Amino acid sequence: MTFIASATRAYPKTRLRRLRSSDALLRLCAEHRLSAADLVWPIFVCEGHNRREPVVAMRGIERLTTDLLPACAEQALQLGIPALALFPVVAQESKSADAREAWRKGNLMSCALEALQGCGVAVLADVALDPYTTHGHDGIVNGGRVDNEASLVALGKQALALADGGADLLAPSDMMDGRIASLRELLDAQGFETLPLVSYAAKFASHFYAPFREALKIAPEGRASATRAEGAPRDKRGYQLGCANGDEALWEIALDLQEGADMVIVKPALPYLDIVRRAKEAFAAPLLCYHVSGEYAALAAAAAAGILDERACLLEQLLCCKRAGASAVITYYAPRAAEWINEGL
Ligand code: PBG
Repeated sequence: MTFIASATRAYPKTRLRRLRSSDALLRLCAEHRLSAADLVWPIFVCEGHNRREPVVAMRGIERLTTDLLPACAEQALQLGIPALALFPVVAQESKSADAREAWRKGNLMSCALEALQGCGVAVLADVALDPYTTHGHDGIVNGGRVDNEASLVALGKQALALADGGADLLAPSDMMDGRIASLRELLDAQGFETLPLVSYAAKFASHFYAPFREALKIAPEGRASATRAEGAPRDKRGYQLGCANGDEALWEIALDLQEGADMVIVKPALPYLDIVRRAKEAFAAPLLCYHVSGEYAALAAAAAAGILDERACLLEQLLCCKRAGASAVITYYAPRAAEWINEGL
């Protein structure tokens, strides 16, 4: 980008406010725009029938039973939202150290995927074991550590179950080394060579995930008695990225693309927009960012307290994600954001 720097072009000849003098000019000169097609809608799915349970930490968000999902898909279609992301709330008695519920035929995710077959929006399914393990880790714990290779085997079984179940996109969010290569190989060998992998490539060990753990009824980090009993690590810093490391995040993305990822995710969104920008400049792949549960909760709580204008602040945040380079944003606000965006058209 070149700026006109010569003295003769400076003020008073140049006045940037000229282009800010009317709504029409502001709109004409906007470098980025939001559309409902920029949104992915994450939904928490629970067991049961025709039931909604509020997630206390996330005002306005509920867990939904699978029979309510087709209506969500219909709403997404009407609004122009192209994709849903499903997160299962697994009953405590179905959790285990080896996460075997993750690939059991007829589990909650397979019912959810079945309910959404042919719904017209893309359904994204997370590949990670944390909803299914008693200790809440994304992989298999052996000898006090999350065992990379044992986890890859389990994640492979989970990915195949989700592929068989009809997921349109698989999103590995476990941050094990080599998982994209191993999943791609497995999927290709099983006839799923056209199923895209959306890699949570730059996933940081973030405190902004706390409300998600309440939503999924996963033990909070550090305090889980199950975690201690099983000799599991207290947190996810042994596999997720440290928030000080931007170069390492780029390295993760490069590796995942080499291994065969079709799209990549940076997560959380707002504190990590520098990573989004750097990834946008370095790679051509579609780049999503995830406005996570804590980012949602902070804005929703401030809005409920009358401190912030929810609509204005959210649309500003989403537009900033796009300015940074995101092709789309995964956000719990998706249906409301789409309405706000469509109203403004
Ligand atoms: C775990 C997973 C997490 C989120 C999505 N997938 C939590 C974690 O890694 O601990 C968090 C999303 C959010 O906070 O909205 N596989």
